[in-house]
Amino acid sequence: MKPKVYVTRLIPEKGLEMVLAFCDAEVWQGKLPPPREVLLGKAQEVEGLLSLLTDRIDGQLMDAAPRLKVISNMAVGYDNIDVEEATRRGIIVGNTPGILTDTTADFAFALVMATARRIPEACRYVRDGRWKTWGPKLLLGWDIHGATLGLVGMGRIGSGVARRATGFGMRILYYDVVRREDLEEELGLEFVDFETLLERSDFISLHVPLTSETHHLIGTEQFRLMKPTAILINTSRGPIVDPQALYEALKSGQIAACGLDVTEPEPIPMDDPLLTLDNCVIVPHIASASIATRTKMAAMAAENLIAGLKGEMPPHPVNPEVFGGI
Ligand code: GLV
Repeated sequence: MKPKVYVTRLIPEKGLEMVLAFCDAEVWQGKLPPPREVLLGKAQEVEGLLSLLTDRIDGQLMDAAPRLKVISNMAVGYDNIDVEEATRRGIIVGNTPGILTDTTADFAFALVMATARRIPEACRYVRDGRWKTWGPKLLLGWDIHGATLGLVGMGRIGSGVARRATGFGMRILYYDVVRREDLEEELGLEFVDFETLLERSDFISLHVPLTSETHHLIGTEQFRLMKPTAILINTSRGPIVDPQALYEALKSGQIAACGLDVTEPEPIPMDDPLLTLDNCVIVPHIASASIATRTKMAAMAAENLIAGLKGEMPPHPVNPEVFGGI
């Protein structure tokens, strides 16, 4: 008999086909995530869950799932899952690292460019019929070439952004809890402390996971240290930036602009004051959203799921200690 699994949304076909070939799978067909009661109900019967970052997978849900062996998240981030609770119950968790690095780094750079050169605002200007002539002072922005980029987090995606920045002749500073001397040499990076990075950077791009230590890592104090011309880019997780402090910093001119792929909360409510600001570019959490990358993510999530169902170590485990790994 095939193992029962629940897939919390329609994922790209290749991954779905792999899941359907091996499992007795039910797939939530809605455009929005399954409501909590549905997830709690489905959890009762399944050995595997293929989840997305929009599903909260906590101890309560695991308590409702006595047969659950594996949670495979189709995302590199897994802050939506209580991994400690999963480990305590011997449930293996998988994620999709590596394959989305370049696509996400491309997108972080797209936000740097869109924000610095005011592209969304300029598009609105044209569509609103306000383009009457070439203007010597029309929609002036900030140069990217030759500017200083501060990367908070020098993991896979942070280093991908650094690689792109070298092509633009940027000076690159970084801060991370782990120093990367190998990359310092290869990419000409300068390691600095967090405060120095905030003070010296023209662009600050965030590439850290959301944990209790990084929650509101950027708030009033940090904005105070930034240059009035600084541009903040967030493609990591919304709650790393305090949204109220961000609004005040943008509104008062404490910083120049920001580009957000992620917000707190998600989706951003339509009455959020950030949506009233021209110097705030917001897109709906799409940094990894290329056809090729989402296809690979779905296939990797399927591989993790199937391995976990077989009682094998998934190719990309988050808590390998469940199977005696490190
Ligand atoms: C997207 O945000 C991911 O974590 O993959």
